[in-house]
Amino acid sequence: MEDCHCERSEAIHQETYLIRPKCWANSNMVFLNIQENLISENYWKSFAPDFHIADSSFWNFQEAFSVPEETKAEMNDYMLNEGFYKIDKSIVNYDPSKHATLVKKLVSANLLPVFAMIYDEFWLLQASARNAMEAVLGTGYTIRPCMWVWHVDPKKEESGWYQHRDGDINSLHEDKRPKVLSLWIPLTQATPQNGCMYVKPMNREEVCVATNKKADIACLQDMQALPAEAGDMYIWNFWVLHWGSKATKRAKEPRISVAFEIEEAGSNLLEAPLMDPFRMPSYEERLRIIAYQIKQYMHMYKFNSTFLEFADNALNTKIIV
Ligand SMILES: [Fe+2]
Repeated sequence: MEDCHCERSEAIHQETYLIRPKCWANSNMVFLNIQENLISENYWKSFAPDFHIADSSFWNFQEAFSVPEETKAEMNDYMLNEGFYKIDKSIVNYDPSKHATLVKKLVSANLLPVFAMIYDEFWLLQASARNAMEAVLGTGYTIRPCMWVWHVDPKKEESGWYQHRDGDINSLHEDKRPKVLSLWIPLTQATPQNGCMYVKPMNREEVCVATNKKADIACLQDMQALPAEAGDMYIWNFWVLHWGSKATKRAKEPRISVAFEIEEAGSNLLEAPLMDPFRMPSYEERLRIIAYQIKQYMHMYKFNSTFLEFADNALNTKIIV
């Protein structure tokens, strides 16, 4: 994904997320109310009434987009050479404007964008890519409990995540086929002005020689911008060097995106429970997953204590069963 775990980057975002809406006074009682909201399914339903939460009738109705055979061949050729690929929105065929609007609403409410993972519509983004994922990783792949939602704000000149590799050389087979992929989904147009991704194509460095995770960006001419339209999807392997760039105030729209980590069957590269991409997670599972993301990305953000408290409660106490 855009960035991942503690060992992958020491970068710290400048931005902070403050959960201090004007209507909430600074008292212990109100603090409890905020915590109660964050775990309340009714709160989230009222926050986005057009979205679904663990609604099997909605979940089961969704279908994966189909991928032409020539696109599958091109995807695999890119994965063996450049290490990344853009799946064009004409193939993905969905409108992400509703998703983007929800993320903007979360940010306006001083809530972390990752709370979008409360809703089926966000989980189903990865499930919709089933045919594309199977074309690269084969059947039986899993998703890791690693995902994030970005809102890179040009007004604050925020940045995506610092240059890094998502994993080491062991994330590739000997023939360079990936064992694990990042699936990166722009919900708004991603441009060089609002913080689009950049990558150093894998075939522009000595993969077999560079066996550590050092982020070598010695030759800037090797880099490639990854602009995207809302509705495109990008995949890249865990070895390829990449980063999210810094937005400028000249950009008119935030760069909003979602990322998942997808692992082939049987690799077992991560000591964490892997998930069936197509099983609908329960509401409680979603809260725990969100809490897990907050804990594992503490090195990337200065989270407000409210969110840290939420994460601790969700993972360590009986508040969420
Ligand atoms: Fe990454």
